[in-house]
Amino acid sequence: MKHLLAIKDLDKSEIVDLIDLAAKIKANPVKYSVSLKGKSLVMIFQKTSTRTRLSFEIGMTQLGGHAAFLDWKDSNFAVGNIFDEVKCIGRYSDLVMARVYSHCNVERMAEVAGVPVINGLSDLEHPCQILADLMTIKEKKGDFDGLKLAFIGDGNNVCNSLIAGCSVLGISISVAAPKGYEPNRGIVEATMDTGLLELTNDPKEAVKGADIVYTDTWVSLGQEAEAEERLRVFRPYRLNSSLVPDGALVMHCLPAHRGYEITNEVIDGPSSIVFEQSENRLHMQKAIMLRLLGRA
Ligand code: CP
Ligand code: NVA
Repeated sequence: MKHLLAIKDLDKSEIVDLIDLAAKIKANPVKYSVSLKGKSLVMIFQKTSTRTRLSFEIGMTQLGGHAAFLDWKDSNFAVGNIFDEVKCIGRYSDLVMARVYSHCNVERMAEVAGVPVINGLSDLEHPCQILADLMTIKEKKGDFDGLKLAFIGDGNNVCNSLIAGCSVLGISISVAAPKGYEPNRGIVEATMDTGLLELTNDPKEAVKGADIVYTDTWVSLGQEAEAEERLRVFRPYRLNSSLVPDGALVMHCLPAHRGYEITNEVIDGPSSIVFEQSENRLHMQKAIMLRLLGRA
């Protein structure tokens, strides 16, 4: 793995290796406390963040390295040429992580940075989130064999990375999205021949036999102008307790819009593993940074 821009940058053995390494780091964080001593990560944010920013920054500190935060609009990304800015950043640092609107911006960064680039969320994918989620599923279920995950809602970046990640690991995935809000066509086409992906517009159909039910916001960062229309279209896709099959785990990447895509009863209920997902972001970011820098 040279960069981590999308789940397709990883094969099955690399995903399994990252999950195993993240679990080892979680079990014994002190062992890795100087693994990235002297290394620097630059984190570029075009959108807001709580979990991604903190898990990378604290993760880097706990590995003995240093992380610098750069807000796109308060830096010269706002006025300069993206290639020039990133070429300079690559000369100061060992790793770049970026959260961008358009996926092509992380691809541009990877072309010229001269150091590994990590996608901290784009309009197309959220690979770091899904790697932490797959780790969480392994912790809860022990294995991936025979599992079915249902994703209810917007066919967005989280859904796209979930489709790619689940299909690599052999997890069946059923997506219920409204017409016009389906997941990315290229990712769907790349997955279709695995026979693991089912697409429907009906949430009840999607959750049948599911071991895990996952949802995400109806209005992603940058889609605020579409909010009114989206809230209307997505109303039948709300994850309430009648939609969650008995015994199924509930996942959400957060931030959640309680009362919209998920009810309080479900997100706060005994089947919810959302805070385990969130915690695992920290351990997984460390594993990603170590592997990209050829450590551990
Ligand atoms: N799940 C996630 O990426 O959270 P943030 O947007 O807070 O980083
Ligand atoms: N789909 C959401 C995920 C936030 C972590 C967004 O892009 O805003």
